[in-house]
Amino acid sequence: MKNQKKNHLEKKEIKKAFVIGEPISHSLSPKLHQFWIKKYQMNASYEAIEVSIKNLPSFIENLQKNQFLGGNVTIPLKENMFKFCEKISKEANDIGAINTLYYKNGQLYGDNSDYIGFLKNLDQQAKDWDENADKKHAIIIGAGGAARAIIYALIKRNFSHIHILNRTKPRALDLSKSMSLYAPKNIKITAHDLDEFNILAPNISLVINTSSVGMKGTSFKNLKLKNLPKEAIINDIVYTPINTPLLNDAQNLGLKTVDGLGMLLHQAVLGFEKWFGVKPEVDEDLKTYMLSLLGEK
Ligand code: ATR
Repeated sequence: MKNQKKNHLEKKEIKKAFVIGEPISHSLSPKLHQFWIKKYQMNASYEAIEVSIKNLPSFIENLQKNQFLGGNVTIPLKENMFKFCEKISKEANDIGAINTLYYKNGQLYGDNSDYIGFLKNLDQQAKDWDENADKKHAIIIGAGGAARAIIYALIKRNFSHIHILNRTKPRALDLSKSMSLYAPKNIKITAHDLDEFNILAPNISLVINTSSVGMKGTSFKNLKLKNLPKEAIINDIVYTPINTPLLNDAQNLGLKTVDGLGMLLHQAVLGFEKWFGVKPEVDEDLKTYMLSLLGEK
């Protein structure tokens, strides 16, 4: 009887999750999930593990042996995860990237929460941003993986015209063609050079920078933000620094701005809920804590 009780207690193991990628030491995800683990008093852990494309098969093979309930996947593994998942969400499939793993009915499930993180961030920070979206135009700067998830999100909210502007226009063209496959006929997706910004600007309701410009204080040259309507919203997904030169310039013109930290916080909700069974809140306390880690407050 005594032994039975002991076994029972031993079975109440710690719930384990991870973030994998390479490099991974810079990832803010462990601090974010650990904040929630503490807040909700959970017997759980979340750790960053450096995994290369080469080591991914053996890491996945040992997932259950290592008692992981799932985790997050980041650069450069997001596109490589497909072949290791037994089930894939429609969203991850359409976006072409997996950033969240969890078990569903005993099968490893690959999902994408980047697009929902983007949407929830705007819903929280810029209420009504998508009101009458079917009459609105957006500019996306950049044509990488982040742009894909965000275009997908804008399609979901029915934006009427999505202009992709990229330093290398052929990449924007490839992306516009592939994302058009997921868009209903009434949604236009077009490709442009970066310097078309100033001409397009007067019709634009929302600008999202998904390129790496803004990191470490780098800035765009010759973007005339003053050509935008005064109600335009500017969102930068770069959050180091939190006030990128683009956001600073927009604020100086009195435009509404949305920073990129919120997308990181909101994309984390899906995984936490799936692994640990609690839907965590993205609130001011969390944001203040994360900003302090970034040396911002
Ligand atoms: P991610 O998957 O995170 O979106 P990525 O695929 O490396 O990252 O894409 C980075 C984006 O930033 C690209 O659109 C890139 O433009 P190119 O396609 O021309 O490379 C853009 N980018 C990077 N540095 C830039 C710069 N100095 N000026 C303008 N765009 C830049």
